[in-house]
Amino acid sequence: MNKPERTFRADRHPADSYEDILDRDLVPAPDFLRQRGLREIGIEPVAASRYFDPAFFEKERAHLWPRVWQMAGRDEDIPNVGDYFIYENVGKSFIIVRAGPDEFKAFYNACLHRGRKLVTLNGCKSEFRCPYHGIAWNPDGTFKDNPIGWDFPQWEGEDIDLPQANVDRWGGFIFINMDHGAPPLAQIMGPLIDDFVGYDYANRYKAVHVSKKVRANWKVTAEAFMESHHSLTTHPQILPGIGDCNSQYDILNDYVSRQFSASAVQSPLLESELSEQEIVDYMLGQGFTRSSLAGGNVAGLPEGMSARAFVAARAREAAMLTSGNDLSSVSDAEMIDSLLYNVFPHMSFWAGFSSNLTYRWRPNGLDPESAIMDVIILRPVPKNAPRPKPVPVHELGLDDPWSDAPEMGDQLITIFSQDMGNLPYVQEGLHASGNGLVHFGRYTETRIRHHHQMIDRYIAQGEAAIK
Ligand code: FES
Ligand SMILES: [Fe+2]
Repeated sequence: MNKPERTFRADRHPADSYEDILDRDLVPAPDFLRQRGLREIGIEPVAASRYFDPAFFEKERAHLWPRVWQMAGRDEDIPNVGDYFIYENVGKSFIIVRAGPDEFKAFYNACLHRGRKLVTLNGCKSEFRCPYHGIAWNPDGTFKDNPIGWDFPQWEGEDIDLPQANVDRWGGFIFINMDHGAPPLAQIMGPLIDDFVGYDYANRYKAVHVSKKVRANWKVTAEAFMESHHSLTTHPQILPGIGDCNSQYDILNDYVSRQFSASAVQSPLLESELSEQEIVDYMLGQGFTRSSLAGGNVAGLPEGMSARAFVAARAREAAMLTSGNDLSSVSDAEMIDSLLYNVFPHMSFWAGFSSNLTYRWRPNGLDPESAIMDVIILRPVPKNAPRPKPVPVHELGLDDPWSDAPEMGDQLITIFSQDMGNLPYVQEGLHASGNGLVHFGRYTETRIRHHHQMIDRYIAQGEAAIK
């Protein structure tokens, strides 16, 4: 097989690379997992104040959020015409409506009279009638009726339909963008859309949706999920089954980056060398986070078979059973590895054929010091069965532990509790910093550095536009 050229390999961890691991797989990985996207983007530190300074937060509010595609939710949440949900971020509020059988709109959630929010709860409406003075709009946003219309000569002959943000969809998700001149979503997400063709995200249903408030800036929170080498000290229990420090990181275009961590191989940082059987025991015993394998019986590894091939085969079997789909030729990597794609600035989608995780990060209202992280688990719609109803959002407050959302499953609760255990102390440490600087690893944290550079680009463009 022709491999794309590898660059600055010498800077990588000396253990087997992700590609080396793929080379030994029984069911080989598709080429797109091997394509590399490496960029030399510097080694300079960034200012710690980016994570808490109200002036920097204000720049993001003014120049970043109004110009980017934001994942607002799933179309399965509003199955009938007139169904809507509210999506809010940094002081903006949108009514996401199914305006027709296959038509979606995003209205600014504010009355054109004196500004009251038109809706404050999700639901289904045949009209959006403002609770203050009763002016109403149709579900497609067109003006309907004004009980005090005789007193509004200024609206005569004017367009008083509800203002809208751009709406686009991919994989059952609804995205909005306040900037009508922004590049199309398909262009932004292009590399992800290409790579995810086989995963049929639209044909999955929302089995879990937890929305958790966190005491840390939204970037601190997102960055906890943009590298794998924190496993060494944050998730030491998973080291028997993850290639952490030798994960692969790629930047595929300005908006899409990804990280791949191999499963069913031991961490190169683990002091003792495990046998393949010990890795299988760990993966099938209690440590593996994919629900498709949880509770599996520990079985004997056939002579000469790798732990990866064995565990992938088990995952494949389980996924075929639950989905009814033929997955017999799906690669080992796509069955068991952590294949996370991020889309700038605030979302992450897991590739592969097991249950798929989606993350979304945003500020908690207008607070630079706290964030909201959404965790969505999608499961395949079973073949020849009705589509299961999506679950409602389960909100967790700043002090609610992840264990208050048992639907996440024990392993994910443990992992997220460990991740979030760091975050308030990262936020406090950034304030406490003696030199006011934050450093990123040149390769392993390249995605995080790139994220900051993209934010800077948006701020610079926004500031230039108003000069
Ligand atoms: S503020 Fe909405 S009708 Fe007056
Ligand atoms: Fe983590």
